[in-house]
Amino acid sequence: MFLASFRVSADEKEAVLDALLPLLPAGVHENGELLSVFSGVPLSQSVMEAAAGRPLADWTVEEVPADWRARRARLGEGGVIVGGRISIRSPWEPPAAGGLIDIVVERRGGAFGSGSHPTTQMCLALLLDVEVCGGAVDLGCGVGTLAIAAAKLGWSPVVGVDRVPVAIEVARENVARNGVAVDCAVVDLAADPVPLAPLLLVNAPPPVHARVAEAMTDEVRHVIVSGIVAEEVEAVLAGYHAVGFDAAAALGTEDEWIALRLSC
Ligand SMILES: C[S@@+](CC[C@H](N)C(=O)[O-])C[C@H]1O[C@@H](n2cnc3c(N)ncnc32)[C@H](O)[C@@H]1O
Repeated sequence: MFLASFRVSADEKEAVLDALLPLLPAGVHENGELLSVFSGVPLSQSVMEAAAGRPLADWTVEEVPADWRARRARLGEGGVIVGGRISIRSPWEPPAAGGLIDIVVERRGGAFGSGSHPTTQMCLALLLDVEVCGGAVDLGCGVGTLAIAAAKLGWSPVVGVDRVPVAIEVARENVARNGVAVDCAVVDLAADPVPLAPLLLVNAPPPVHARVAEAMTDEVRHVIVSGIVAEEVEAVLAGYHAVGFDAAAALGTEDEWIALRLSC
């Protein structure tokens, strides 16, 4: 077994994964900007760069143990564990031990949300602290990770919407894979009515937050906000403040991604 590793910038990662994933049935392990690929034969840098349509920085290939446990030890934790309670992993990774809530998500076609992005992880960490009080909507659900987590934590009914059809297609597969009840639909939150619930999960760009804030009613009790960087927080929060919501908790990363829990 061989392990090829290379770096891509955050800006290029989606495009590189779109190009390479169809060639790599065993998947790609993401760790920030470092991407790692297992294969039975040593992958050629020039072939992979041609497929990706760009140079792949810091390319290395090494022979690794065939046994997944030994490989996992080499890469560190296979999936992502959030708050010591939730494990997010791809279908080709073995379940995490220890009674964690096990969320299995596949991504493809550029759909967002393998669980590796810090905004997804921060939203999950904030979600763990919200007492269940009814239904939840994941606005900009990508492949459904947050909606699936909400359903597994007891929120009901749960809805996930995204404007990208392939994201909704994959989200539906992930919902079935996780054995939860989540209704997924293609909705453009720039134009269509915004579905509401006591809990809104909004890991999406600022224009979506503006639209959600405008649509808020008394039904909404909590909003988990992410998909924004530090310099966008003030403007995004102003929209929610205007309808009576204040930040109750905040998380951030070194590269400036922010997540907030708002309550009224
Ligand atoms: C940062 S990703 C978050 C995905 C997922 N909720 C997660 O946390 O892993 C933002 C998502 O918002 C979706 N999105 C952006 N603008 C949208 C819009 N106007 N209507 C619906 N979805 C939108 C994108 O397609 C993308 O899937």
